[in-house]
Amino acid sequence: MNWWKSLKGKVKLKEPLRKHTTFKIGGAVEYFIEPNDADDLKLLLNLAKRYKIKLFIIGLGSNVLANDKKINAAVLRLSSPYFRRLSVDGNYLEAGGGCLSNQAVLVAKNNGLSGLEWMAGIPGTIGGALIMNAGGGREGDSIGDLTEEVTVMDYNGDIKILKRKEIKFDYRESNLSEYIILAARLKLRKTDKNRIEDRMDYYISRRKATQDLTMPSAGCIFKNPHLYSAGRLIDLCFLKGKRIGDACVSAKHANFIVNTGQAKADDVIKLISLIKRKVKSRFNLKLDTEIKIWH
Ligand code: EPU
Repeated sequence: MNWWKSLKGKVKLKEPLRKHTTFKIGGAVEYFIEPNDADDLKLLLNLAKRYKIKLFIIGLGSNVLANDKKINAAVLRLSSPYFRRLSVDGNYLEAGGGCLSNQAVLVAKNNGLSGLEWMAGIPGTIGGALIMNAGGGREGDSIGDLTEEVTVMDYNGDIKILKRKEIKFDYRESNLSEYIILAARLKLRKTDKNRIEDRMDYYISRRKATQDLTMPSAGCIFKNPHLYSAGRLIDLCFLKGKRIGDACVSAKHANFIVNTGQAKADDVIKLISLIKRKVKSRFNLKLDTEIKIWH
């Protein structure tokens, strides 16, 4: 039954998710859908409800571990021009939910607007960054700190504008995951372009020096427990280089698991469990994953 036929956007069938995740892991998903605009998205949500199709949303796939088996669901990606629009209004950057983070950083810099420099070089979308309240680490803003309002669609297809005070941003999480993010209005600061460029360079070079960016991965696997660095704790358990199948704890940053070839989702999941066990037994601390695991 071709329930998707009335959609205007692109629909691919049995699309391998490994093509769409930075881990380069993931089996074929039944439907991979890129809606055209908000109306098309609303239609998709109604159809998915009517035909009981499970929905996942993907941005740039940089924070996702998808299983290797057939995934009986629809993955939707907001990649049409409507969802990737970007504009500047005084000190505000208006960005569509599917907008590439790097594109947003560039437009902000070109307009002499500071605040997003920590995001330079990070693979992701504005919607994904908002949902996980992405941030630059110890120093620097997180995207929640910059957010003025977010336009969302709920799963009934109704659009709402959420003001900053209606949104709950915590460390690497928010209450926005119950919505689909259509657009955000971010408040930035007027600054000299050269200073913005220097700050972008600083963040990019620090990341290059400390993180494994040459192998497929999903960035940091675990959130940092309060007052601790997950990477340091894993390192102190001597787990750097620990391997299950082709999944391996990075020798450069222990909170990264890299795919050294044909890693399976199960290899990564086993490695995650092993790391959690070791850190719990050595430090009595519980590690929680930052990445989303799709079963
Ligand atoms: N450390 C070790 N061994 C390691 C890794 C780190 O001893 O293998 C030590 C470092 O020397 C440093 C401390 O742990 O003293 C913290 O390390 P780092 O500065 O790399 O920061 P992090 O807390 O591990 C966080 C974010 C990163 C973000 C960096 C920017 C989390 C979970 N991670 O990492 O975000 O890029 O700050 O400095 O909040 C991500 O979210 O995917 C991510 C990579």
